[in-house]
Amino acid sequence: MSDLAAFADLDSLAAAVRSCQRCGLHAGRTHAVPGEGLPTAQVMFVGEGPGFHEDQQGRPFVGQAGLLLDELIEGIDMHREDVFIANVLKCRPPNNRDPLPDEAAACRPYLDQQLALVDPAIVVLLGRHALNAFFPDARISRARGVARRVDGRVFLPVYHPAAALRQLRLREVLTQDFAMIPTLLHDAAAALVEPPRPDTQQLSLFG
Ligand code: URA
Repeated sequence: MSDLAAFADLDSLAAAVRSCQRCGLHAGRTHAVPGEGLPTAQVMFVGEGPGFHEDQQGRPFVGQAGLLLDELIEGIDMHREDVFIANVLKCRPPNNRDPLPDEAAACRPYLDQQLALVDPAIVVLLGRHALNAFFPDARISRARGVARRVDGRVFLPVYHPAAALRQLRLREVLTQDFAMIPTLLHDAAAALVEPPRPDTQQLSLFG
């Protein structure tokens, strides 16, 4: 549950992130990276946290991993402008180390409010830190490519694009997992029009 005042919109939330001092990471940042995208996006991507380039520019996924993310998004006939991109952490950890639990906890209310404000049908969890922010005991190698529905929202864990830059074989897996997004979106839209009946649910997509 959030201990931050509720923000009326994404711009006020971003302004609060830029002046945030809720954890020690603020001391080392060049720019905070609140996240960006379409305020009414149906698909939200959640990454781990800003790296060097993101910290320099104050924007999410603008380095090499971002180029791959853009390519994957274009590969399913969508564009960066159609989606919302956020991170578990809004400030870069020193030397890109893993987020510490207290940093993730301090930053969490921002992510929760972004989810509430954008209200996407699909949340794509990029990598294990994003996965574990929502499903603490899950392992990315088993969870990837298995959509989970929670409170009417669909979560799709996939490998982090940076992992696919380091291990080329993961790129094909990531491409396959991204290919699920249009179907999930279609199913989410259909569910709004007509409540799902047990005999027509595509259970195979959901774990
Ligand atoms: N990796 C992330 O997880 N997030 C970014 O914004 C950039 C790289």
